[in-house]
Amino acid sequence: MRTKLLLGNWKMNKTPKEAIEFASQVGDLVSLSKKHNVEIGVAPTFLCLVDVLSHAPEGLIISSQNVNEHDHGAYTGEVSASMLSSIGVTHAIIGHSERREYEGETSLRCHEKIVALLKEKMTPVYCCGESLDTFEAGETSSFVEKQIREGMGGLSKEEASKVVIAYEPIWAIGTGKSASSEIAETTIKNIRDVLKDMFGEETSETIRILYGGSVKPNNVSQYMTCPNIDGALVGGASLEPDSFKALLEGMINA
Ligand code: 13P
Repeated sequence: MRTKLLLGNWKMNKTPKEAIEFASQVGDLVSLSKKHNVEIGVAPTFLCLVDVLSHAPEGLIISSQNVNEHDHGAYTGEVSASMLSSIGVTHAIIGHSERREYEGETSLRCHEKIVALLKEKMTPVYCCGESLDTFEAGETSSFVEKQIREGMGGLSKEEASKVVIAYEPIWAIGTGKSASSEIAETTIKNIRDVLKDMFGEETSETIRILYGGSVKPNNVSQYMTCPNIDGALVGGASLEPDSFKALLEGMINA
């Protein structure tokens, strides 16, 4: 049984003061989530990680939005997995489409980042997803398969089972046009089939795969009733405690 995960990606939002306000208001959500065997967490900017960690209730997962693949050295502006791990960050989002688009991040580079995170016993949240053109051309499954094979190739079964995958169609991110649960389930089932081919059935069944892209309190439940969808990676609707709570309730009540 895969534990469901609700992860808020704050992107480039919130000052430390605003992040602390959020962290101080979600204590009851952690107990609620635990009661229903759901994991919840947020991914603030690097700038806010320390403050969120020191104000967050125990049990709230704190993730970064990126990591560098090297451990230390002359990489100006970067942060390594060992640095994140040393302050208590346990997860890192990798290969978000915004980083692929604006920072030229490739799946092969994401692979290096996944390896670096696993070395620190952290959980990579590896994002994949296609553009509107690719979707309309009917090439979603081959496009996403390549991202998965390049990002996850060469991992052992044990390593692969520790990765969380997030399927986020680019055309659904921040647009209000979420993928239907049928589309999300179909692609996520395809991803699981690719993982089965790479790592075997047993491992593929343990890997959590999230859906992301305009997930809101009023549509989160539909994804949670899909057999292959194990949670949600949420941008805009994760920014306020009330909305974050409503997302959790939607997941629980699905
Ligand atoms: P929205 O929920 O704002 O569409 O963002 C999705 C996303 O990119 C999460 O990583």
